[in-house]
Amino acid sequence: RSAAGVDHYEITQQVREVEIVPGYRTPIFGYDGSFPGPTIVSRSGRTTIVTHRNELPVPTVVHLHGGHTPAEHDGYPVDLVHPVGDHTSRGGHGYATAGDSSHGTRAYEYPLDQPAATLWYHDHRMDFTAPQVWRGLAGFHLVHDDVGDRLDLPHSERDIPLLICDRAFAEDGSLLYPSIDPNLRDTPGVHHDHMEGVLGDVVLVNGAPWPTLEVDAARYRLRLLNASNARRYRLALRPAPRGGGGFVQIASDAGLLAAPLPHDRLDIAPAERFEVVVDFARYPVGTEVVLTNELGAGPTSEVMRFVVARKAADDSVLPRRLAEIEPLRPGAAAPRREWVFSRGIVGGDRGWTINGRPFDPARMDATPRLGQTEIWRLYSDLHHPVHIHLSPFQVLRRNGRPPGPFDAGWKDTVDLRPAEYVDVAVRFERYRGTYLLHCHNLEHEDMAMMSAFETT
Ligand code: C2O
Ligand code: CU
Ligand code: CU
Repeated sequence: RSAAGVDHYEITQQVREVEIVPGYRTPIFGYDGSFPGPTIVSRSGRTTIVTHRNELPVPTVVHLHGGHTPAEHDGYPVDLVHPVGDHTSRGGHGYATAGDSSHGTRAYEYPLDQPAATLWYHDHRMDFTAPQVWRGLAGFHLVHDDVGDRLDLPHSERDIPLLICDRAFAEDGSLLYPSIDPNLRDTPGVHHDHMEGVLGDVVLVNGAPWPTLEVDAARYRLRLLNASNARRYRLALRPAPRGGGGFVQIASDAGLLAAPLPHDRLDIAPAERFEVVVDFARYPVGTEVVLTNELGAGPTSEVMRFVVARKAADDSVLPRRLAEIEPLRPGAAAPRREWVFSRGIVGGDRGWTINGRPFDPARMDATPRLGQTEIWRLYSDLHHPVHIHLSPFQVLRRNGRPPGPFDAGWKDTVDLRPAEYVDVAVRFERYRGTYLLHCHNLEHEDMAMMSAFETT
């Protein structure tokens, strides 16, 4: 629905049985009962209001990942949408507590004053994000703008969002998760036997295992999202096109790059997005091109396949320049903060911490000033994909050296590898309030590897 200046979407969160593995019924938590949820499409600078109705048996929180969103709509982990008709959590007086939780339905308002980008929305409930996303609560939210539209990049049926994730299934077809209750009741979201995060052995693309897509011998824009709880992928095309550079990256998490960047392989950590142009005209008609995962083994070593089905006209172009990127140049006096991502003790048990402390939604760990560029140094003991809410950042250095091949452009998630430190420049804009910094390994997040900060 669309009214003057505002686009409206209505989404019902519900339990649904769907067929993921052929011949099996799998109960999921689905936005509109589907996994992934419906793709929301917005225009930069035009408000989108998404009204969520929670018909699930558990409370939820919706976060628009990559959205430049006022704090009250950002999906703070304790800002719950309670299930429709659930009066038990109302505290007796029959009204939702002002400003912090709501019952049944909740309208999230997204001004989207940001460049075109591939965003995604997912659950963000404190301590329960990992199992709730695993059960299906994730979907794309695309933002378009004039800069992007003028570029004549591949579009329409040649512009394809690919949500990649791994899942495990029980013998009856239900999703297998260490703490999931088979009756879909609420279960604690801590997984101390799974310190590295929960991995599946089936790779799904847009909710289907190892799918095949027939393509024209033409350029395609693939919007790659790693929506896995914990798995990192090293994507490559097999066979690689002659001359290499099969993936031409055009955008990162938060929008277009300054110029196309060719890659033979792409390392993609949880929550990262890479938009690439793949030119299937570089292959003879009839070629089967496998999107492989070089970090996987056995069933997780392949993601999907493309079959180059026919010759076709191609009016798209790959411009040499894409967008103006303002380089953030923090001055000598720029505020600096350090964030150490490491194992620690959480509630008397093993868990994950930032600066030695577990997440506390009431404790502000930093108060950055709006409009000021800061340098944040992120340290990691092991692999941690670190995500910052509200505003994107630019990677300045890795271990004191220049950024890596996958760090280009505006990012909102950066893949920290074991014993690394990464400096990012970040400038928070416009919205005052409480936001998050966390590891996007969702089990790590639930095991308390999250910090709150308040923009002032
Ligand atoms: Cu994609 Cu704070 O999350
Ligand atoms: Cu986010
Ligand atoms: Cu982590």
